[in-house]
Amino acid sequence: MRPALRAVRVDITTLAVDAIVNAANASLLGGGGVDGAIHRAAGPQLLAECRALGGCPTGQARITAGYRLPARYVIHTVGPVWRGGGDGEAALLADCYRNSLALADAAGCASVAFPSISTGVYGYPLALAAPVAVASVAGSSGRAVREVLFCCFSVADLQCYEALLAGAE
Ligand code: APR
Repeated sequence: MRPALRAVRVDITTLAVDAIVNAANASLLGGGGVDGAIHRAAGPQLLAECRALGGCPTGQARITAGYRLPARYVIHTVGPVWRGGGDGEAALLADCYRNSLALADAAGCASVAFPSISTGVYGYPLALAAPVAVASVAGSSGRAVREVLFCCFSVADLQCYEALLAGAE
């Protein structure tokens, strides 16, 4: 069943959804951006669980508890670094969304929030990343996930997703 899609402008660490997705790096040992915010809010037990996972390849995802976060789970995915678009970035970004949703569905999550994966430090232009994100999620067919939030951190990002979702209806 296709989940309901919404765009919101909020700090993802505040969302009381079943799972929030983290834009991590391959080490899964934390970093800046949303990764840093999630680890700060979740507390040190998140890093301890991540250490035991032994990293994550680009395009794949891993699930952990949310600890001090209001979200029950954190799904860590590693987006592609933008290298101009000729290095399979779009396919890897789509994999991030699809693999994260698959883990959320398997864990029985009804609600999942995504940040704009790869569009910060990793340099993926939002105008190119957001259509990949929306298409990947809209094409998913899990049983548990009923609602997906695209969690934007700027007005410009929110406007981009809202325009896409209006067109996708
Ligand atoms: N809530 C929601 N979105 C956020 C938050 C937050 N608290 N903080 C940042 N963002 C947004 C950014 O504005 C951007 O739109 O998340 C999006 C992803 O940006 P990054 O966090 O820089 O992630 P990414 O581009 O995927 O780069 C990943 O950065 O932090 C490191 O360890 C991480 O090495 C990895 C790399």
